[in-house]
Amino acid sequence: MCGIVGYIGFRESQPILLEGLKKLEYRGYDSAGIAVYTEHGLEVTKTVGRLVNLENRLSGDPLRGTVGIGHTRWATHGKPSDVNSHPHTDNSLKFSVVHNGIIENYLELKEELMHQGHRFLSETDTEVISHLISVEYDGDIVRAVQRAVKKMRGAFALGVLTEYEPDRLVAVRYASPLIIGVGDGEKYIASDIPAILEHTRDIYILNDGEMAVLTRDGVELLTIEGNFITKEIFHVDWDLMTAEKGGYDHFMLKEVHEQPKAYRDTMLGRISEDGRSVALPELKITAEQLRGVNRVHIVACGTALHAGLVGKNVIENLVRIPVETDVASEYRYRSPIITPETLVIVVSQSGETADTLAALREAQRCGAWVLAITNVVGSSVAREADDVIITLAGPEIAVASTKAYSSQLIAFFLFGLYWAQTIGSQDDETVAHVLSAMQSLPEQVEHILAQSEVIKEVAESISHHSSLFFIGRGIDYAVAMEGSLKLKEISYIHSEAYAAGELKHGTLALIEEGTPVIALLTQEDLYEKMLSNIKETKARGADVLGIINEGHEVEVAKSVDRQFAIPRTLPLLTPALSVVPLQLLSYYASLALGHDVDKPRNLAKSVTVE
Ligand code: F6R
Repeated sequence: MCGIVGYIGFRESQPILLEGLKKLEYRGYDSAGIAVYTEHGLEVTKTVGRLVNLENRLSGDPLRGTVGIGHTRWATHGKPSDVNSHPHTDNSLKFSVVHNGIIENYLELKEELMHQGHRFLSETDTEVISHLISVEYDGDIVRAVQRAVKKMRGAFALGVLTEYEPDRLVAVRYASPLIIGVGDGEKYIASDIPAILEHTRDIYILNDGEMAVLTRDGVELLTIEGNFITKEIFHVDWDLMTAEKGGYDHFMLKEVHEQPKAYRDTMLGRISEDGRSVALPELKITAEQLRGVNRVHIVACGTALHAGLVGKNVIENLVRIPVETDVASEYRYRSPIITPETLVIVVSQSGETADTLAALREAQRCGAWVLAITNVVGSSVAREADDVIITLAGPEIAVASTKAYSSQLIAFFLFGLYWAQTIGSQDDETVAHVLSAMQSLPEQVEHILAQSEVIKEVAESISHHSSLFFIGRGIDYAVAMEGSLKLKEISYIHSEAYAAGELKHGTLALIEEGTPVIALLTQEDLYEKMLSNIKETKARGADVLGIINEGHEVEVAKSVDRQFAIPRTLPLLTPALSVVPLQLLSYYASLALGHDVDKPRNLAKSVTVE
C-alpha cells in the first residue's frame, strides 16, 4: 500500500501535493517524493523517512510549477531509501511515474530492458514502469502507457508525467485504488478521497482496467485498451475524518474490511500462474537447509503469537517437523534448545517489538537460521533476520491488529506449502488443492463481512456481561485465543480462551446461568467432540454462539443458542475465515460500550520496550 497524488491546474502544485500526501500518510510513511514540471523540465525531489523530511528538503529548494505528482511509500520491493523512493524516472529523465501496487513480472521486464542498455538505480518494481513507458513512447503518452501496461502483470495505480507533453497527466488503475478529482481549471488524482477533499468534492472513481487523461480543462476516461467511456461524477458529502477512514467509523473496521485485499496482495506473485506451486524468490534459505531442519521455534507476542499458533499447525501438518511456539518475552530466559538445525520464525507486524527482536538475536547467537514474517520492510526485524516474508497488509493504524494477523496466516500457508513442495513432504496435487482453496479466501471473507449485522446483534448482547469464554479444539483453539485477546483489548470485557476439552478440568466451575460462550467448531474431525463440550457448558446454563461451517446449521441448532456460519474451506485454512466474525464481535462490543475502538486504554501500537 502506498499513496499517490497528482495535480494539473493553475496554482503552484508543490503545496497541493504535500498537503495531499499528508492525508495519505496512513497508506505508508517510509519515504516520500514529488515530481513537478518546472521551467527546467521534470524535476524530482524525494527522500527516505516521514513526509516532514521531504518538506524540509523542499523548503530550501522548492519545485515551482503547476503540474506534478507525489508519492508516500510503504516499501514492498526494495528497502526504504532515497533511491527507492518515488517518483521514478527513466534514463532520459523525461518520464516520471508514481505507483501503488506490485508488478509481479518486473524482474523479467527489468532483465529485458537491461539487455537493451537501460540502467537502473533502484531495487523497485516501479522504476521498470518509467523505462517501459519511455521505450513505448512515439509522441503520444497515452498510447505509450497503454502499451507499457499491457506488458505488466500485477496490481497498479499509476500517475505518469512526461516532459514532452507538459499539459497532460495520465492515470491508470488496475487492482489498486485511484480516483480523479474535478475542479474548475484544475484536476487531481489520488489514491483516496481525503487527499483532495479540501479542493473538490466531485470525483470519478476509476474501476480496474480504466485510465484517465487529465488536462486543466477536462478529463478523458478510457479503458486501458483505448476505448472511451463515460462515468457519473460521484459527489462526496463526507467530512474529512470520515473520508480518512474510507467512510468507516473507525480504522479498525476499515482494516477488517481490507482483509480480502490484504490476502490477495500477500498471495500476489507468490502463486505460479498455473496455480500449482508457491514461489518465494525472496528467500535465501536453500532446499538443502530446509531438508536439514529438525525443529522449528515460532516466537512472537500477542496477536502475532496467535498467528504463530496457527503456523505451528500448518507446518506440522504440511511438513511433519515438530514446532514449538514461544512467547517472545519468555524465550531467552528459558534456555531454549537451539541448534543450527533449528529454524526460528519470528512474527511481528511492526517489526520493532523489543521482545521479538531480542528473541531473534538470541536465536542467531545460538546459530539458528531466522525467518521473519513482518508487515514492515526495513523494520529492525526485517533487517536483522536471515530471511523475510513480507505480508502485504499495508499500514495498520488501529491498535488492535486485524488485517496484519490474517495476512500472517496467509504467509504461513504460503511458507508451509513452499517448504512441503521443496522437500516433497506433500505431493503436487495436494499443494495445488490447498492453493486453489487459498485463492477463494478473499471472496469468502467478503461473504462473511456482508453478514456483519448478525454479529453486531450478538456483540450488543454480550457487551452487558463481565466475563465470557471462547472455546475450540485444534486449530480452532488457536483462533479462540485471538478472539479472546481482541475482545479484551478493545471492549475491556474479561474473557478466556480454552481448549474445549480442558474446560471440565476446572474452569467449567465459572460457567453459570447466562455466561456467554463463543464456541468454534469448524474442524470436521473434532466436530462431535466439540458438540459434547458445548453440551457440558449448556448444561450449566451457558449462552452459546457457535462459529460453524456452512451446512451444519440444522444439526448445530440443537446444541447452541445462536450461530454464525462461515463458508467451507480446507480445515487448515479456516482460521483465515473464522477470525473475521470474532474481530467484528470485539469491534461491535467495544462500540456498544462506547470505548475508543482504535486507541484502547493502556496499549500502544508498537511495543519497543522489554
Ligand atoms: C493486539 C496486538 C498486539 C501485537 C503485539 C506484537 O491486537 O496488536 O498483541 O500483536 O504487540 O506486535 P508486533 O506484531 O508488531 O510485533
